[in-house]
Amino acid sequence: CRSGVTVRRYCMKNPTKLRVSEAFLDAQVGENVRIQGWVRSFRPQKQNLFLHVNDGSSLKSLQVIAPAGMNDPLLGFGCAVEVKGILKKSPHSKQPVELEAEQIRVIGECNPVDFPFKIKERHSLEYIRQFLHLRCRTNAFSSLLRIRSEATAAVHSYFKNNGFLLIHTPTITSNDCEGAGELFQVEPPGTTFANEGSFFSVPVYLTVSGQLHLEVMSGAFPRVYTFGPTFRAENSQSRRHLAEFFMVEAEISFTESIEDLTKVMEELFRSVTESVLAHCEEDVDLFHKYVAPGHRDTLDDMLRKSFPVITYTEAIDILKRSSETFTFPTDWGCDLMTEHEKFLVKHCGNIPVFVTDYPYDLKPFYARDNQDHPKHTAAAVDLLVPGVGELCGGSLREERLDLLRSRLGECGLEDTYSWYLDLRRFGSVPHGGFGLGFERYLQCILGVDNIKDVIPFPRFSHSCLL
Ligand code: 4AD
Repeated sequence: CRSGVTVRRYCMKNPTKLRVSEAFLDAQVGENVRIQGWVRSFRPQKQNLFLHVNDGSSLKSLQVIAPAGMNDPLLGFGCAVEVKGILKKSPHSKQPVELEAEQIRVIGECNPVDFPFKIKERHSLEYIRQFLHLRCRTNAFSSLLRIRSEATAAVHSYFKNNGFLLIHTPTITSNDCEGAGELFQVEPPGTTFANEGSFFSVPVYLTVSGQLHLEVMSGAFPRVYTFGPTFRAENSQSRRHLAEFFMVEAEISFTESIEDLTKVMEELFRSVTESVLAHCEEDVDLFHKYVAPGHRDTLDDMLRKSFPVITYTEAIDILKRSSETFTFPTDWGCDLMTEHEKFLVKHCGNIPVFVTDYPYDLKPFYARDNQDHPKHTAAAVDLLVPGVGELCGGSLREERLDLLRSRLGECGLEDTYSWYLDLRRFGSVPHGGFGLGFERYLQCILGVDNIKDVIPFPRFSHSCLL
């Protein structure tokens, strides 16, 4: 194959298969190539056919030029094609290369009348959401999927580079970590739990959080994390809740204060966002141009400034002093609602803000008691972000056996969580962690209003399509 002749003959017969994004690299100009993808625009003219082919490798579509005689009645918008030809420099600066076709093969036809997306039309996210099985063929959703994939890789890179061990926490579990009662019970058909023959012999649920399993592992590994699907039976039609969402959770041992958590949350946010901006610039720009104009400035501000920290007590003071009318009460002891969270973000300069030290009674049994505080608070922290509200929830965990035992006793959970008490009996250390809602993170950086538009297959009450 070292002789040029052999190489050339091989190329003519079976040209190198190229991803469309690679076609834009200078090195490919003059090469005989083969691309496979879907037609995004189609313009038959007297002398020539012009089509744009996209294969999902980037937002870019490659212009293909072919003699009019190469037209095929099946060729048209939306169909799947394979094109063989030579890559040439194009005279148009917007379109630096084009493919001079020697052969176009229609692999899958597409009836443009029934196809829900129309050529050259910009459809809203709401419109394309009606076609969950087809929306990946639109520019906006394909950009979203590339961003999501990049952000996923960046989450893993951040943790790997910072000494965290990945733990695959289970999807099926017998514990109710958050204690909020938003559980999906898993039952093989015909099971009654009174029945001794039931599959697990105990009621089991889809996980609402991997935290307790991470806490098990943090007894031997000082930094652990997990990233996977999480389930909440929340009967909510809100723009930031799903029944199935992805959560990034970290647990850190030998913590000294809540700052050990806020530091990791802030670094994670910055590191993943910088990676997304570096690798998916064009895709992110699409959102900032067409979906949320002006959001790029907000995002730049988020990255430029460090995230302020206020206590829950200060947050309540801010809300009470404001002239805003809220639907829900803002007294000390009340939970912060989305309207409060959004107000606090705006008040702090429209950048992410940490709120710490929530009333003890608002937090689950595992949150560490701030015994030295004048008001009864827990060492818990939420990260609130522009446009979304709560992005992360976390806390230091109660590592003191006597305090944890009495708290579990008060909740009537001492027997259920005897294994959890064991973690405190054998080499307990101060530790803490947090969970970040991955879809809310994507909403925050892209300025997407509805959480259903940042997940491939949204599940929410009364909807589980596909
Ligand atoms: O605040 P949450 O409930 O915290 C926990 O589950 C902790 N056990 C995590 C931990 O400490 N390891 O949930 C964490 C985040 C929220 O801040 C929110 O971003 C997201 O998960 N989240 C949801 N996202 C979409 N739909 C829902 N129904 C969500 N519920 C929570």
